Amino acid sequence: MNIILLGPPGAGKGTQARHLVETRGMTQLSTGDMLREAKSSGTEMGNIVADVMARGDLVTDEIVIGLIREKIESNTQGGFIFDGFPRTLAQADALSDLLNQTGQTLDVVVEMQVDDEALVARIAGRSTCGSCGEVYHDVTRPQPENGACETCGASDFQRRADDNEESLKNRLMEYYKKTSPLLGYYFAKNQLQSVNGLADIDAVQTEIAAVLDAL
Ligand code: AP5
Repeated sequence: MNIILLGPPGAGKGTQARHLVETRGMTQLSTGDMLREAKSSGTEMGNIVADVMARGDLVTDEIVIGLIREKIESNTQGGFIFDGFPRTLAQADALSDLLNQTGQTLDVVVEMQVDDEALVARIAGRSTCGSCGEVYHDVTRPQPENGACETCGASDFQRRADDNEESLKNRLMEYYKKTSPLLGYYFAKNQLQSVNGLADIDAVQTEIAAVLDAL
């Protein structure tokens, strides 16, 4: 099964993708994580995208499609959760071509519906384990009191460089201008299902599970 989690910054895509990896053995393909990895390993591409990401602008289609192509071609069995990809109509068309070329299909696009006020609070409170990527939130999922990540035991919690007010405004603007048209695109293809991303994390998990189990 191949699925897309679609929603604005802070909608909970990464949180839900990690749960699906744990419970269903799927493979999370987060273009944000791939780009951050390239940035921190100091590759040429990482240096090119660093400023773009810090501003909250979108990285070029060419770069992100290249990253996804590499992953799909190296695992043609699928079972992918696309998290943060596609983000433009060109990326959506490219994904469709890539899946066709490897004999795969896209099973569903899950829209995570939230409102902008909630996003600001979520982004402002987010921290991530620098070792395994587990996502925490100061209020809704606080870091463990013993300072060790619940998943891997590391104590290297980090806040993202683009999790600030100015960058978030830009990320939201990019979402509404370039990514939200994908809702119509997938609706027209009969592939769109929506869940209430404002519910608590467990309730969102249950709603997504119901969508996937009904396929
Ligand atoms: P990316 O890493 O994809 O960031 P994003 O889309 O802005 O999404 P986030 O990771 O911020 O949010 P999320 O929806 O995963 O929420 P999370 O689960 O963490 O992209 C970063 C940048 O990379 C882009 O700006 C762009 O520059 C570039 N980029 C990436 N992909 C690209 C592409 N395809 N094309 C071009 N450029 C690209 O949750 C957020 C917080 O809320 C957490 O603290 C969590 O604990 C909490 N939370 C989650 N769910 C709930 C809930 N139900 N209730 C309460 N709290 C919750």
